[in-house]
Amino acid sequence: MAKILLTRRFPENGIKLLSSKHQLDISDNPMSYEELYEKIEKYDGVVSMLSDRFDKAMIEKAKRLKIISNYAVGYDNIDMKAAKDQNITVTNTPDVLTEATAELTFALILAVSRRLLEGDRFVKDGKFKGWEPLLLLGKEVSGANLGVIGFGRIGQAVARRAKGFLMNIFYYQRNRNIDAEREYDASFLPLDELLAKSDIISINAPLNKESYHLINKERLSMIKKGAVIVNTGRGAIIDEKELANALKSGKLAGAGLDVYEYEPTVTKELLKMNNVMLLPHLGSSTVKTREKMAKMAANSIIDYFDGKKPAHIVE
Ligand code: GLV
Ligand code: GLV
Repeated sequence: MAKILLTRRFPENGIKLLSSKHQLDISDNPMSYEELYEKIEKYDGVVSMLSDRFDKAMIEKAKRLKIISNYAVGYDNIDMKAAKDQNITVTNTPDVLTEATAELTFALILAVSRRLLEGDRFVKDGKFKGWEPLLLLGKEVSGANLGVIGFGRIGQAVARRAKGFLMNIFYYQRNRNIDAEREYDASFLPLDELLAKSDIISINAPLNKESYHLINKERLSMIKKGAVIVNTGRGAIIDEKELANALKSGKLAGAGLDVYEYEPTVTKELLKMNNVMLLPHLGSSTVKTREKMAKMAANSIIDYFDGKKPAHIVE
């Protein structure tokens, strides 16, 4: 029996699995960095949330730790070099959340382009007095140019939905993916060209050194005027302050964000904008997906301590 910490209560199926094999401690509240730092040295394994920062100091404090099972596909919250130096296995929860995240991406694309937020407010504020020919005209999604930044599993799942909307699909990432291009009728473009051509830009990349502030002031200035941008990847891929400026100036027609540069803090100006939809990091938040993620995260821990190689190791 290993001592395992679950840093935040998650779906019951995962808890049952873990506690059937190991001694499990569960935190019912979000753990602060300090709290986690205080406790981590007691544990052989941890199921971590994307909001838990496993930096070098945390990892060095975790003398007994053998495995970090991150309850997320992204693992930018973990210092991978420090983990490797200490021989700690790191796992994530890919695939099972792809469809849910692509679905939420599309919800944002539609909501921002068709001004659903403003429409909802309009009705609830009692302003709807009847159909009007020029009321809240939005951008048509069907047939528009979609630029996907990060064409991994989630980016491709967004493209699959975009095909149903008859969109022209462009993508950018470090390496071309010819098979995916064929499958989704997508064209690779250098980032600058993608920004200039796209009516709707979707960020579906992981956060790493290359993607940090990929969308900065200069890149924002290259975006086609009146475009919409949505981000369900990681906040720090966009310079959020510059994004607010681009929205304020009218360069961008709107934005849909599920993730933030300084999550959970949101750049103040964005909070006041009617053409911006802000969600509290809900990409994978369906019952079905969170249960699958819980099972996967639990099984990584169980497999590891059974002496088997966990299925989703990241390095
Ligand atoms: C969510 O953002 C995840 O990485 O799973
Ligand atoms: C990222 O890891 C993805 O699945 O797109």
